[in-house]
Amino acid sequence: MSSWDEEFSKPGHRYGTEPNGFLVETAGRLPPGARVIAAGDGEGRNGVWLAGQGHHVLALDASAVGLAKARALADQRGVAIETAVVDLSAYDPQPGSADAVVLIYVHMPAGVRRAAHRNLMHALKPGGLVILEAFHRNQLGRHSGGPPDVSMLFDLALLEEDFGPDIRAIHAFEGDVELDEGRGHRGRGAVVRFVGVKV
Ligand SMILES: C[S@@+](CC[C@H](N)C(=O)[O-])C[C@H]1O[C@@H](n2cnc3c(N)ncnc32)[C@H](O)[C@@H]1O
Repeated sequence: MSSWDEEFSKPGHRYGTEPNGFLVETAGRLPPGARVIAAGDGEGRNGVWLAGQGHHVLALDASAVGLAKARALADQRGVAIETAVVDLSAYDPQPGSADAVVLIYVHMPAGVRRAAHRNLMHALKPGGLVILEAFHRNQLGRHSGGPPDVSMLFDLALLEEDFGPDIRAIHAFEGDVELDEGRGHRGRGAVVRFVGVKV
């Protein structure tokens, strides 16, 4: 059992059942009935909320335990999501099949992350959006969440490098915010927030 499977086997939802605030702020940019890949969706708080907004959600995660809880949350909310257990670094999507890719706190080792980001950007159609929030490198040593390993943290330059010239930033922020997301993200945290469009 992976460490995420173990974590998600605990009672409750590590990041709560409410969607991430930045996703809620930015989801108005999605077209109605968008095909959205919720990548690294964990226990499903974001994918389930997007489905409730009328979008067609494919929730991807390496944790079967997390996705089982995501499906249960979807049932509870009376919405449908599609789920698939995948390693994002080996994900081979149909090119141009998604209107949006949502990545909320999906921290991975650098090589895995680069491959995952590349694969997910292939899934985006031209004009499609990537919406991302993750911990910034300045989060290292703080106790409000995130991996204690600087190579798994983010900054905007890293995103520019990972996504390349095909993704044009339309919103980019790095700085401190107040976090209140379940027991996993709590207190002041340094984050990156990014919305990009595939050109
Ligand atoms: C911090 S949790 C965030 C979960 C969810 N996005 C949220 O905000 O509630 C990170 C998630 O990324 C997933 N993950 C990490 N590496 C992955 C990989 N290589 N492929 C697929 N999922 C991965 C984990 O299983 C976990 O569910």
